[in-house]
Amino acid sequence: MKHKTLGGLILLALLNTTSVSAQQTNPLLKNEAKITEIIKGMTLEEKVNMLHGKNMFSSAGIERLGIPDLEYADGPFGIREEMEPHSWRGLGWETDKATFFPTGSALAATWCPGMAYAYGKAMAAEAKLRGKDMILGPAMNIQRLPTGGRTYEYLSEDPILSGMLAIGYTKGAQDNDEAVCLKHFALNNQENMRGFVNVNISERAMREIYLTPFEMAVKQANAYGVMAAYNKVWGKWCSENDLLQNAILRNEWGFKGIIISDWGGTHSTVGAAIGGLDVEMPSSTYMGQALIDSVKAGAVPMEVIDSKVRNLLRVRFAVPAVPKDVANTQITSQPAQQKVAYDVASKSVVLLKNEGNLLPFGKKVKTIAVIGHNATRTMALGGVGAGVKALYEITPLQGLQTALKGKVKIKHAVGYEPYPRARRGEQPDLTAWNENAAKLKAEALKAAKGADLVLFVGGDNREVETEGSDRTNIDLPFGQNELIEAIAAVNPNIVSIMVAGGPVDMRRLEKVSKSIVYSWFNGSEGGHALADILTGKIAPSGKLPFTLPVKLEDSPAYALGVYPQKQETESSDVFVDLVNRDNFRAQQKADADYSEDIFVGYRWYTSKNVKTMYPFGHGLSYVPFSFANAKAEVKGQNIEVTFDVKNGGNMTAEQVAQVYIARPDSKVIRPKYELKGFSRVAVNAGDTKTVTITIPMENMRHWNEFQHAWNVEKGKAVIYIGSSSEDLPLKTEITL
Ligand code: GLC
Repeated sequence: MKHKTLGGLILLALLNTTSVSAQQTNPLLKNEAKITEIIKGMTLEEKVNMLHGKNMFSSAGIERLGIPDLEYADGPFGIREEMEPHSWRGLGWETDKATFFPTGSALAATWCPGMAYAYGKAMAAEAKLRGKDMILGPAMNIQRLPTGGRTYEYLSEDPILSGMLAIGYTKGAQDNDEAVCLKHFALNNQENMRGFVNVNISERAMREIYLTPFEMAVKQANAYGVMAAYNKVWGKWCSENDLLQNAILRNEWGFKGIIISDWGGTHSTVGAAIGGLDVEMPSSTYMGQALIDSVKAGAVPMEVIDSKVRNLLRVRFAVPAVPKDVANTQITSQPAQQKVAYDVASKSVVLLKNEGNLLPFGKKVKTIAVIGHNATRTMALGGVGAGVKALYEITPLQGLQTALKGKVKIKHAVGYEPYPRARRGEQPDLTAWNENAAKLKAEALKAAKGADLVLFVGGDNREVETEGSDRTNIDLPFGQNELIEAIAAVNPNIVSIMVAGGPVDMRRLEKVSKSIVYSWFNGSEGGHALADILTGKIAPSGKLPFTLPVKLEDSPAYALGVYPQKQETESSDVFVDLVNRDNFRAQQKADADYSEDIFVGYRWYTSKNVKTMYPFGHGLSYVPFSFANAKAEVKGQNIEVTFDVKNGGNMTAEQVAQVYIARPDSKVIRPKYELKGFSRVAVNAGDTKTVTITIPMENMRHWNEFQHAWNVEKGKAVIYIGSSSEDLPLKTEITL
């Protein structure tokens, strides 16, 4: 057993001090004496009544004392429409039309915690208008699989980037009296069989990659809520996982808020109660009468119940309830939040390629052919799960029509249509679709001929990328490859706009596109933001939050053959009632072996020298940026990295400078290097800015699987600085 060095002990003590000081400012702890008194006067029935769903999206307060219910709302990229109290159907109101914010991967593409703060604050404002106390978001599981159904909803493949954004989102919401609910805790990284898949993973990979974003948001932003994931980890349901919920989340990280289950994700009474779950959502199958009986039978101690009630009252008193007669008295979506949606979208668009500088549109462009289904398709709703009944959504075509009105002629052709819908697991009948495709292609080629520029707006959509199932591939669907190759034969000046939330296979499209832009599922203002970038009003500054592989088989879990697993027939189960679904799931067996371990995303491609289509952190600007004069030093509990960023162009532009650190003499296996810090900086034309990135020494830790503890390894640290995980022109080094 390695002894902890004195330095290590001091560091651990300091790390713990950090979390203690964070808790002293924790609003959750300001009413402890009052809560103690309330609990003393409560009956067992009143206590247990708080520990399960009251309605689909609420849990009970204490009516006798006038303590209001807790009202929840999805998130994470807009406040979901008002639902019927006991079903998944909306009530069809008019006042609940909300702002559709750029989804998770778009927010992450800003690489901007300040934007995440504004996002959380805006979500809080609209949640309040609807009388909601807790946003069910941010959704922040690591994007392990390019085909992951919720990649569009999650943030990134890297724990530091995900953690920094989750901190921003959490602080933005909670500084404005709205609780967040970090989801899904933990290791919900696939949608296939999400209800019962069992994750097998090394302790080190779990700690360093998958838990770190949650740890950051709990310890540095005092998140008030956490949602237990549907899956199992090491054989135990997350909603009754003592290690995850009690040992790590509460005892080690000092979490003082509430743990709620995912909807239908509770699987026992005693196991869940003792395992740390506070609230069963949305039903009371396990944490209702069964829990009362279990307490009376002595299987669950009263102090366990009291601690859950305490957690709920902490959140209740930290989040002022909105009076019923004030909520829903105005339209949810408001101009201030629409502006935030624009700001986030405008910093999320990623310019992947720009040969011949087709972008921004030059003065010579008089006619543009806008071709593709996604030029007019809205993305606020679709697929399974949370979406936004948006007050409006500016599509790419609408954005361009507004920006180019009176200046450039636009010829629009839809080009292709999605396949007709088919029952889950069945293939659609494409007879009519094929006939229509030929007609649409002819129209597209007619529009493309003679245009100065073709804007191909493709990608996928919210039916393709959805909660509840993973994609079976990342191919560009609906015949887009054939279509764009036909267009290229009549007009080589193609700018391709990928409207997608996760990676798509662009091998064929890239060959015939002089410029490529990733513009995400980008919210109510996405079309305006895209147009402002294409026309050069603002320079693109988004950076990829995940790797775009050349092909799916290059990605780690596919390369190792550990995903997809044999698919159990959950399709017949998804829509039965929650209890039958539980029984079905409890009998299923499917293991997800995280054999790539810590080599997730760019860690895999850089360490294994696997070529990427476009790397993690990549994103071009309209100006040439250069980096110089790097230096680094250890200052107390931080590493300070300083360098210059020069804008060699003719317009103001923003760069996201990234710092990756390698440990060449390490005693443990490590990726080639890992993201340890980043900073978005605006630089005027011709100017140079000196940037300092402060990296907490905690970011340098690795998990020692012998000690079952964090270590900060002594020795050389090589610091790389640049504009993506594969473009790191600057280097310096220090010794820890
Ligand atoms: C879903 C999702 C979760 C969501 C909840 C309520 O199954 O997994 O993210 O917040 O149910 O809609």
